[in-house]
Amino acid sequence: MSKVDNEIRGRLALITGASGGIGSACARDLWANGASLALTYYNNRQPVDELAHELLKSPGSEGLRISCHKVDTGSAEDIERLFLEIKKQHGQDGPDILISNAGYGKRRTGILDVSLEEFDYMININLRASFILAKLSIPHMEAQKWGRIIFVSSIAAQGGGINACHYAASKAGLTGLMKNLAMKHAKLGITANDIAPAMIGETGMIPDAAFVEGTPGDVKNIPVGRLGTPQECANAVTMLCRTGYITGQSILLSGGLK
Ligand SMILES: NC(=O)c1ccc[n+]([C@@H]2O[C@H](COP(=O)([O-])OP(=O)(O)OC[C@H]3O[C@@H](n4cnc5c(N)ncnc54)[C@H](OP(=O)(O)O)[C@@H]3O)[C@@H](O)[C@H]2O)c1
Repeated sequence: MSKVDNEIRGRLALITGASGGIGSACARDLWANGASLALTYYNNRQPVDELAHELLKSPGSEGLRISCHKVDTGSAEDIERLFLEIKKQHGQDGPDILISNAGYGKRRTGILDVSLEEFDYMININLRASFILAKLSIPHMEAQKWGRIIFVSSIAAQGGGINACHYAASKAGLTGLMKNLAMKHAKLGITANDIAPAMIGETGMIPDAAFVEGTPGDVKNIPVGRLGTPQECANAVTMLCRTGYITGQSILLSGGLK
């Protein structure tokens, strides 16, 4: 039997959308577990700079590195440039851990409100980006026979949530992509999973409970009676990184919402 290796200390984690609620919580948690970080932002540089500054000052971070990169995940060229920057700043061809989290949501009531341009835009950012990121990450992971790929999907992948059909399609596509990668790359030490959150507060998407009052995601309808937290998403992400026996799974974080 091959040796079990769930060590994430000293690994490099690439987290897209680290300027947002869930991405920044994942960055903190993986850093606390000893990972170096490559963090991306798009419009909001300041939160990522502040996060990097804070983490680098924290005790126990000797020998760890953080790099920050501006990336539009809708652009293949931007993602390719990101990998060149990672090579330059971390000395490796790709990350050991990929957290493809950057995403975009649009609340619309029905398919008739979604234009073709809007559909393509959503798919590029939420689904195509994860395909490109995984494709660029896997050669390094295969070479070292160790890798963790985690997509941030959504309850919308199963038909729930408050977003429109193109968001649901993009997130369901992520789950299909993840399951295929999990089966194809398991023998090479690479696991692939997704987390499927619903109604996570302290994020740009759901700033607070008042934001969703009167919608299907109203806190009144959530069995545990509250929004989820970015830290709870990060807990699941770190657990998946540290548990190589889990692959091909979508972990629903929804407070009991179906
Ligand atoms: N909050 C929820 O309840 C919930 C539920 C299910 C799934 N999710 C998923 O969780 C992920 C993180 O969202 P969040 O809830 O943490 O919301 P958030 O705080 O708004 O974060 C969104 C992140 O995505 C980045 N982003 C958006 N468009 C981008 C683009 N074109 N290129 C690169 N980065 C882009 C943003 O970067 P800038 O701010 O720098 O522009 C930001 O870092 C998303 O994939 C979302 O679909 C969230």
